[in-house]
Amino acid sequence: MKQTIIIVLTIIPFLGFSQNQLFIPDTLSGSSIDLNLQNAQVEFYPGFTTNTIGYNQDILGKTLILEKGNEITFNVTNNLTESTTLHWHGLHVSAKNDGGPHTVIEAGQTWSPSFTVLDNAATYWYHPHLHEHTEEQVTRGAAGFIIVKDNEESQLELPRTYGIDDFPIVIQSRAFDTNKQLMWDTASDDVLMCNGTLDAYLDVPAQVIRLRLLNGSTERVYNLGFQANISFYQIASDGGLLNAPVSLTRLKLAPGERAEILLDLSVQQGQSFNLMSFASELSSGIYGATNPSAMPMGSIAGYSSNQLNGSDFSILQLNVEAPTTNPVSTIPSLLISNQPYLESDINTTRSLLFQPVQMGPNGMLNGPFEINGEVFDMEVINYEIPLNNTEIWELTNMTAISHPFHIHDVQFYILDINGNPPPASMQGKKDVVLVPPMFGTIRFITKFEDFADEDTPYMYHCHMLSHEDEGMMGQFIVFDKTTSIDEQGKESVSIYPNPASHIIRLHGLTPSTIELFNASGQLLERRESTNDYEEFNMAKYATGLYLFNIKNSEFNHTYKVVKK
Ligand code: C2O
Ligand code: CU
Repeated sequence: MKQTIIIVLTIIPFLGFSQNQLFIPDTLSGSSIDLNLQNAQVEFYPGFTTNTIGYNQDILGKTLILEKGNEITFNVTNNLTESTTLHWHGLHVSAKNDGGPHTVIEAGQTWSPSFTVLDNAATYWYHPHLHEHTEEQVTRGAAGFIIVKDNEESQLELPRTYGIDDFPIVIQSRAFDTNKQLMWDTASDDVLMCNGTLDAYLDVPAQVIRLRLLNGSTERVYNLGFQANISFYQIASDGGLLNAPVSLTRLKLAPGERAEILLDLSVQQGQSFNLMSFASELSSGIYGATNPSAMPMGSIAGYSSNQLNGSDFSILQLNVEAPTTNPVSTIPSLLISNQPYLESDINTTRSLLFQPVQMGPNGMLNGPFEINGEVFDMEVINYEIPLNNTEIWELTNMTAISHPFHIHDVQFYILDINGNPPPASMQGKKDVVLVPPMFGTIRFITKFEDFADEDTPYMYHCHMLSHEDEGMMGQFIVFDKTTSIDEQGKESVSIYPNPASHIIRLHGLTPSTIELFNASGQLLERRESTNDYEEFNMAKYATGLYLFNIKNSEFNHTYKVVKK
């Protein structure tokens, strides 16, 4: 009798949960893919229609299945009555194809990027990146999965039948108002949504299954695990497979991050158990923990009354059913061999400091936040990075809350977290990393390859979308040193060194007018020269891009130079 009571008590918290079958979006693949962002409605609560947006469907988007090496043309149509952009989060594409805040798709317009997939097999995602509106559009439903496949991955014995033993799982916390409309800009995100489904369950076969987990929430960090502390194996991080599966019982996933895991359910047929977030175990200073502040100070309005904060809650119920024919039944012992960039190869180290715009307990926790004393400005290029530079980025968080830092264009390898080497599960390719609070530091190493464009920048930012929208973002261009000298003029005039820190030399001039402009076109110096050779002192100018215009009666060329 006593035993029965105990069992009943254990089950009760999960009654009322898991009435809805998990929605699995259909897939799109091939060399031409159309995506249409549209207005829609979803009945999350009986009798209420909630306004949503989605790509080719009512909420979220079709899952894109891309093959490494294939060239794909997209037609992204904006059927909303407002602007949007579409960013391929994690993919290594040119700045013009990246879909950042400068690449706006106006209402009614179609954007048609075309690129070759250069990325390794892993789980990526796409979402809007319209400046100051990213949180809003993602919250209303705009986000989809990208699954990249490659030869190395397909040679491994891994589950890869979409929707059968390989499942995309996006976890999002949401807030609804009394009319059951989605709200943003609030800490009352107390409703858990999995693939756009409330109270979701998923029937899975009794064999090794693969879950592609994405934290698509605005701010919330999840401390994932399973009931009864069932262990699982992480096989991939943001940008690729790990060297070997890593056995875990907990996996912390911050906004923007992905992780692929394997779960061996061979002996679990007939059982049900839940994917959970054990948020009670999260340390202070993380959104989702009991205390989001690392210091006993400050508060976020509505945070402590939100039932998800600091408690353990269910995300998805798994019901283990009969296995498929030819199931995957073992966990591989090795995966791929990652080749991290070498510290001995670095050209540059950059330090980025996360700070509150306003000091004091409220600013330290709630923001707005800035990077190196600057709030995002569409007109300011924060870094100019030479093509093929290998760099260390050193992130220091001087605020009371952890921030998930994301950079476009590249994948990186974490060197250390608060001075310690990362655990095995974080030694693979990453494009988001959670930076610990109160002088927490992360160093990562990366290389800026393939794409140079002096006009279109790439972004780096906090992936807490509210922070990003409020300006915790910067931008960089990648430039190609070898083509930054105007090709046509190069026989007659040479300019060196470029980049220059001090004296820059102009050689091969005939009598001519030389004008020096800054990147925004302001004239800084003009010199009439009758010599073959001139020197300019660049030391007095800020680092950045500058232009020399050299002209005479038969010659008129502009040269880009960089002050470093
Ligand atoms: Cu997922 Cu710049 O974004
Ligand atoms: Cu942040």
